[in-house]
Amino acid sequence: MTQSNGIYIITCMEDKELKKEIRRLLKERNAILLAHNYQRDEIQEIADITGDSLGLSIQAGKTEKEVIVFCGVHFMAESAYIISPHKKVILPRMDAGCPMADMIDAKKLLALKERHPDGVVVTYVNSSAEVKALSDICCTSANAVKVVQSLTNAKKIIMIPDKNLAQYTAQFVDKEVVYYDGFCPTHHNLLERDVIKIKRQHPDALFIAHPECRPEVLELADHICSTSGMYSYAKESDKKEFIIGTEMGLLYRLRKENPGKKFYLASKKLVCPNMKLTRLEDIYESLSNMSNIITVPKDIRSSAKAALDKMLAVPRD
Ligand code: 13P
Ligand code: SF4
Repeated sequence: MTQSNGIYIITCMEDKELKKEIRRLLKERNAILLAHNYQRDEIQEIADITGDSLGLSIQAGKTEKEVIVFCGVHFMAESAYIISPHKKVILPRMDAGCPMADMIDAKKLLALKERHPDGVVVTYVNSSAEVKALSDICCTSANAVKVVQSLTNAKKIIMIPDKNLAQYTAQFVDKEVVYYDGFCPTHHNLLERDVIKIKRQHPDALFIAHPECRPEVLELADHICSTSGMYSYAKESDKKEFIIGTEMGLLYRLRKENPGKKFYLASKKLVCPNMKLTRLEDIYESLSNMSNIITVPKDIRSSAKAALDKMLAVPRD
């Protein structure tokens, strides 16, 4: 195998061979492969660790490997670099973004802060490094309630960019919450009528939903949690059937880890096109060329790190 005709070789390689080559390269480069729970099945299969945004950020900080290959979307790889700037962070597809993260930028956040000078800014990790740098603390879907509850002196919270997550969190806190109009197109696409329909088809199934879903969808949920929270909930439950209200990538591990249980996707619309961009070929190519390296300017990085560190210091269960 040569670098010069790498593209030709990748096209000819079978998935099985590609997976083997990726694992070999990971070893050679002293690299770890982190994959978000929404990645394609074949990527989850070869990952060292799969997890939600919070879990993967923690792993990025813990690993002793020199290179982190982050299979997810841009803000996730950026967070990994912010936490571990001495490591090389590779995002196999540079075009894998998050439309919700793109709904707010530094200018819009500054305008919001000017309108609410007494507001404490709690920013969902689904945001750019620039936005994080202007925030007081970050949160993920796994810890949003705990993060806001930890702000004991704050009376007013500005929660960006996801309105659905903010509205969900507001129910558990005794504070004024200022919303922003951001949303995840994938989760927002799941409608109340879709859930009513699938619940009718599977009357014994429990409905588990991600807090990025609309409030009227969350109203119908038996349990609301982050992507990784869904694995533990399904595993620990003595129920046998579940309707899943998040991106379809979750089904791979849910089915693998719970062979005696049945899982139904709440709607065929639950696909994140950005999460599905990354393919084995992209991992192979970026890792062999050590390309697609993510960095963040130093001044932005240190302020964004402060917001992420504050989040990571909030006690978990
Ligand atoms: P988690 O934090 O649950 O992994 O979700 C991230 C995400 O992008 C959900 O759409
Ligand atoms: Fe962003 Fe939604 Fe995709 Fe998550 S599922 S990465 S929030 S677009």
